[in-house]
Amino acid sequence: MNNPYDNETAFAKYLGIRQRENNYNDNVEIPIFKSMLPALAGKEILDLGCGYGEMSRWYVEQGAHAVVGVDISEKMIARARAFYSHPAIDFEAGSMESYDFPTEAYDLVTSSLAMQYVEDFDRLIAGISRALRPGGQLLFSQEHPVFTSAHNDDFYLRDEEGEKLALKVTNYSDEGLRVTSWLGVDMHNYHRRLETVISTLLRHHLQIEALRESMVSEEIAQKYPNLADTRMAPNFIFIRCKKTS
Ligand SMILES: C[S@@+](CC[C@H](N)C(=O)[O-])C[C@H]1O[C@@H](n2cnc3c(N)ncnc32)[C@H](O)[C@@H]1O
Repeated sequence: MNNPYDNETAFAKYLGIRQRENNYNDNVEIPIFKSMLPALAGKEILDLGCGYGEMSRWYVEQGAHAVVGVDISEKMIARARAFYSHPAIDFEAGSMESYDFPTEAYDLVTSSLAMQYVEDFDRLIAGISRALRPGGQLLFSQEHPVFTSAHNDDFYLRDEEGEKLALKVTNYSDEGLRVTSWLGVDMHNYHRRLETVISTLLRHHLQIEALRESMVSEEIAQKYPNLADTRMAPNFIFIRCKKTS
């Protein structure tokens, strides 16, 4: 499987970012994501794009009955098995869009910051909807459409000192592939308008229960100035929905 996260240097850089105290995951993404999770006790959970498995393991520690963690990166899955394995967790290497979704097998499907890598969102959501039991829930975060719309890495309008002045949102209506450079490698992201994301969920009987956009408190912005840009424009969006039939 060919995935940018399996590039040796990119993987090392990613782990380095995750270990920094001021990272977006620990200070922005994970707190919002956890605040939107339903009760986990006794649940059967599918974690798509599980990365190195920290959240999958946390779900079990919160009382989940069983978790399947799927990630396209062999390196991520190897690390997940090495550091976060548990008898109730099955870590599988594979792409989420080609996952063989069973029928009505899960109470909850989760995905953190991975769905923007998937080209065929409609097919993915159809599979997730099939895999959920009636009343089951999907909670996912992804890069916000105002960010995925950019055609290059030049996201911000800056002053002469390089300070961020505003987010440049261009080409919002032009959906599809964006190749950006991150971790020193080309990342293939797929831009979808918010309208497309929401209408795809609704078309597959996933009713929106909650939606949030990332933003840190003024206190956190002062503590970690690198995160203050989330108050200028939201970098992540979070959606929780429930299968209605
Ligand atoms: C930004 S990381 C987030 C990892 C994890 N969810 C977390 O929050 O710690 C994105 C992850 O998505 C995985 N990924 C990218 N494309 C994927 C795909 N098509 N199917 C499954 N996983 C994918 C990458 O390998 C990577 O582990």
